[in-house]
Amino acid sequence: MAPNLDSFFKTVDSNTDAFIERLRKAVAIPSVSAEDERRPDVVKMGMFLKSQLDGLGAHMEARPLGKQPGKEHLELPPAIIGRYPAKKDESKRTILVYGHYDVQPANLSDGWNTEPFELTVDDKGRMYGRGSTDDKGPVLGWVNVIESHQKAGVEFPVNLLMCFEGMEEYGSEGLDDFIIEECKPGKFFEDADAVCISDNYWLGTEKPCLTYGLRGCSYYSIEIKGPGQDLHSGVFGGTAQEPMTDLMRVMATLVDGNGKILIPGINELVAPLSKEEQSLYKDIAFTMDNLYESLGSTTGIFPDKESTLMGRWRYPSLSIHGVEGAFSAPGAKTVIPAKVTGKFSIRTVPDMEPPEVDKLVYSHVQQAFEHLGSKNTMKCWLQHSGKWWVASPKHWNFTAAAKAVERVWKTKPDLTREGGSIPVTLTFEQATGKNVLLLPMGSSTDAAHSVNEKLDKRNYIEGIKLLGAYLHYVAEEPMKAAAL
Ligand code: BES
Ligand code: ZN
Repeated sequence: MAPNLDSFFKTVDSNTDAFIERLRKAVAIPSVSAEDERRPDVVKMGMFLKSQLDGLGAHMEARPLGKQPGKEHLELPPAIIGRYPAKKDESKRTILVYGHYDVQPANLSDGWNTEPFELTVDDKGRMYGRGSTDDKGPVLGWVNVIESHQKAGVEFPVNLLMCFEGMEEYGSEGLDDFIIEECKPGKFFEDADAVCISDNYWLGTEKPCLTYGLRGCSYYSIEIKGPGQDLHSGVFGGTAQEPMTDLMRVMATLVDGNGKILIPGINELVAPLSKEEQSLYKDIAFTMDNLYESLGSTTGIFPDKESTLMGRWRYPSLSIHGVEGAFSAPGAKTVIPAKVTGKFSIRTVPDMEPPEVDKLVYSHVQQAFEHLGSKNTMKCWLQHSGKWWVASPKHWNFTAAAKAVERVWKTKPDLTREGGSIPVTLTFEQATGKNVLLLPMGSSTDAAHSVNEKLDKRNYIEGIKLLGAYLHYVAEEPMKAAAL
């Protein structure tokens, strides 16, 4: 029977302004996990989230995760975990939700049209601000679902377990072990029947989706050093071997301009494409114009949608991100940097095992450097790695979410995989032994990680309805024998 959601939906609509204010307060806290000096703000954001949920009567805890590996002077932000209702109702199913309260860095000077940490709503209902879609909007979505049930006087349909972290954008430092521990018998997440993560986006702007796969991410550094300090290129150019030149030459051997990974052995690790999988792509609601719209250009690699989607979901990619220690300010400085660290990452897919990838990377980088015959020294290491994840979209967790999408958006969702990574997704699946679903709120044009990140008001408000409706439908789904 379709649950009666009318009064819940109405309450969400009538609280729109308050929900936007809640997002405004969250966006105003610059919880950038990658910038050490912002760590107090990351903690402040975690505490803000906790206080919002405390205020709604949830049982909340801020759990310390210890020191940050490699930066022992820095405490990791806490995992904010909780339970709603505070006391478990044994007659109801238990759903564990995860999200992150940290954000990517953002500065007005990067090209933002508005202050990144001030939510700015335009006349089309686009709400600009760092973290609006990734992932503060969706995380607050769960808070708003709880509040709307209370205000509407509608019984909460499930036991909700919550896990919110503050280091996702930095590789989820410290969280794997915490999750594994808390899924053990007698611990906080023990009772989860299924997991739901709202931390991704639709493929376009009109059609919702449910996501059952993510790529993994292995992130590397290559450090090359030689001279004792930065040098004048007029005095030493032509006489000293230059680390930056070596680095550029090594980095240029990693990938070609069409995204082909040049590290020997990497592409051979990829699971072959089956006929069945190949047939899935043509029905996905995605066009090259969707790509061009979110790219902001027509500089895509492939001319067709199938290859584009495959390049994003099911094949690995290698991206070069930047160089620490290099001259990057505007203007011209005639410097020879003494030590430079290049950064790149590989998005991994089935069946790539991260340790095998590491081995191939190290051996290739070593050989490429040796090939230069340079007197400088080189070190290559892994910063973090998270594995890919592919689940079954046939599980009742997905069936319930599909019904919720149809109810709220009046259309069937696409079943998609994604190219991004959420390192703990696989950890949740393995530690709970239960199915994990990705249920996005935002759309393809939200520009997560980029300048002018936004969440449309419509996606936020209907997204709150969607998360709530999902909990009602999941409460009704018959429990099948298979856990995954
Ligand atoms: N929300 C993204 C994950 C995502 C991106 C899902 C694109 C679907 C499509 C998440 O916040 C994120 O950006 N994660 C990082 C993880 C990395 C640091 C290991 C990412 O993918 O770069
Ligand atoms: Zn995110």
